[in-house]
This record gives sequence, structure tokens and C-alpha cells, in this order.
Amino acid sequence: MTTIIDGKAVAASIIAAIQDTNAALQAQTGKKTGLAVIIVGDDPASHAYVGAKSRMAKECGFFSVQHTLPKETTQQELAGLVHELNGDDSIHGILVQLPLPQHLDAEAIIQAIRPEKDVDGLHVANAGKLATGDLESGLISCTPAGAMVFVSNAHGRDLSGLNALVIGRSNLFGKPMAQLLLNANATVTIAHSRTNDLPSICRNADILVAAVGRPEMVKANWVKPGATVIDVGINRVPAPERGEKKTKLVGDVAFAECAPIASVITPVPGGVGPMTIAMLMANSVIAAHRASGTKVSGQLSTLIFG
Ligand code: GUN
Repeated sequence: MTTIIDGKAVAASIIAAIQDTNAALQAQTGKKTGLAVIIVGDDPASHAYVGAKSRMAKECGFFSVQHTLPKETTQQELAGLVHELNGDDSIHGILVQLPLPQHLDAEAIIQAIRPEKDVDGLHVANAGKLATGDLESGLISCTPAGAMVFVSNAHGRDLSGLNALVIGRSNLFGKPMAQLLLNANATVTIAHSRTNDLPSICRNADILVAAVGRPEMVKANWVKPGATVIDVGINRVPAPERGEKKTKLVGDVAFAECAPIASVITPVPGGVGPMTIAMLMANSVIAAHRASGTKVSGQLSTLIFG
């Protein structure tokens, strides 16, 4: 029997532990976790994501601030806001929603965030800590951290002897995901658009993680029988069967045909997606505890780190 992971349920248990952890912080220090989310421009998908992040921060009991800036915002203005938030003691996490409008240098903005407040885990200091195996003092990129919770739930913390494949090499997902798997002793391969014979590399993977943005690219005969399949793709495709001009979300994995081959698989939607926001909240409450020198609750640590 294949286990279909319920990402909403796993995320909900993490959110409940975050609420408790935030309440404990408030009881000990009188301070709430503060999360500032910055969005520039009017891309509707980005606004939907940011709205969900701000709402969840409030549900967690955080001090939640959203800065909505016009698309004409200059590099200097945006950098000025980041600088102000870096120095604001009531803010423990800063997230700049990506992508930024073309005229802005996103990399320079991300690197301007204080690493201790970089709840996206994208600052070179945080990426470097992950790359050198320091998972304790940095902040880890939210989607790979969430995907890794599923992998740990399926296989435990030690992946010795298991072959893991990550399809995709982005800084936001593929690279940190590969680092997390490697840190857990998996034998890791990173595949990408220049890789030859992807199907046969996939067939060797005990843990297959797909993050390429190509709808239902991974087919049943690419999946090793009994593999754990984590689908990070979110692709909107036409769904004429639901009516004229209707669309639906699908992952990078052809779910219906791959599910019977896998032993564990994530659906889209409802798999990795809900975990990204949960891990953003986790990073924020962890950053707040570190700022005040208090300890994160054992329950939250266990849910995230096993
Ligand atoms: N845009 C899409 N995903 C993300 C994310 O995880 N963080 C940020 N900052 N922007 C995004």
C-alpha cells in the first residue's frame, strides 16, 4: 500500500507547536515573534502567497507586518526598508517575496538582510552553514526544510545507504535540498536540464525529489518500485474536463501513474506546499528565541529535526 502524505496535517501539527513555542517566548520575555514580509509590485500569485504568509503569522500569534511597495520602488528605497527592519528589535524575521521586478537586484537585497533575520535561509551565511553541515546555528530554506520533514518521517534521520536524487539545482530549493539529504548520509545526485538520460537516473533513486516546474514530467517507469517520491512542482495546466477555460494544479510527477509504484508519495496540491509556510513560521520563532537567548520547545524541535 502506498502512503500518500497529507502535507496539510503535518503542517498543522508543526503550526500548533509553533503557537505553543511563541506563547512560551511571550511568557518568558514579554515579546512576540515579529515577522516582516515585503512585497514589491502587483503580481497576483505573489500577492496570494504573501497574504497567506501574513495570515499564518497572525494565526501563530506573531507580530506580523506586511510592507506592500509599488512596482516603481527603487533599489535604494527597498534596501533602506531592509536596513530599517534589520535594526528593529521587534522584528525577528524578514522575508522579501521573490521574484522582484526586473529593475531590482534581488541578490543584493537578500544579502542585505541580517543573516539572523533571514528566515528564507537565502543569505550566503545561512547557505554556507548548511553547506558545511552546521544545521544548528543557521536558518534553512523553508521548502527544502519542509520536504526533509517528509523524508525523515518516512526513513528516519539517517539515510545511510539510500540513493537520493534531486531534480533541479536552484538556490531556493535544489541545492539546499541536496545538502540536507547529504547531511543525513544519503548518496546524493543532482540532476538538471543538462543531465543525460534522466529516466534511468531516476530509476536508481530510493528518494526522488522533483523540482523542475515541468507538469507531470516524472513518469511511472522512471520510479524505482518502493521509492519515496517528493513532488515540489506547482504547475497550473488547462483542465478542459472541468469545464471551458478551467485550470488545475499539478506537480512535476505524474501522480496517478506513479503512486502505485512508490511506497510514499506527496500529492499536489496538499503535499510540500503547506510545509513551506509552516517552516517559514518555524524559522521565525527560532530566530526570535535565538534573539532573546531562550530555548525552542522540545516538541517543535522533534517535529522538525526528528
Ligand atoms: N517566491 C516563491 N517561493 C518563495 C520563497 O520561498 N521565498 C521567497 N522569498 N519568495 C518566494
